[in-house]
Amino acid sequence: MNKIIYMTGILAIFSSSLFADGESTYKSACFACHDTGAAGAPKNGDKMAWTSRIEQGSETLYNNAILGKGAMPPKGGRTDLSDDIIKSAVDYIILSSK
Ligand code: HEC
Repeated sequence: MNKIIYMTGILAIFSSSLFADGESTYKSACFACHDTGAAGAPKNGDKMAWTSRIEQGSETLYNNAILGKGAMPPKGGRTDLSDDIIKSAVDYIILSSK
């Protein structure tokens, strides 16, 4: 029984830190365009703007965020960040926008 509580605790901490990571990356690297709609960026939390993009699937969104798309430069200009960090920021946007 204790083991189950322990495992659940670890999982909760693990998943919340993944989410927090994506959120903090979003706030430092993506926020400038995706909170304001600058350069025509789809706004975070705007379900209408994101539905058809999310339908492309996570892999496509990851690739487009990493390689850039249209007016969005590769990694939003933050090529110093790892692919995994960018993916966690994409996950954060997906969770906030669907
Ligand atoms: C300089 C402004 C700018 C920054 C910074 C920026 N984006 Fe974007 N982003 C855009 C624009 C503009 C689009 C729309 C591109 C299009 O569809 O032509 C876009 C689209 C996207 C898409 C949708 C791609 C698709 O396939 O439809 C994702 C995912 C995304 N951005 C993630 C991110 C993440 C994650 C960050 C931070 C690491 C970020 N963006 C930073 C401007 C930006």
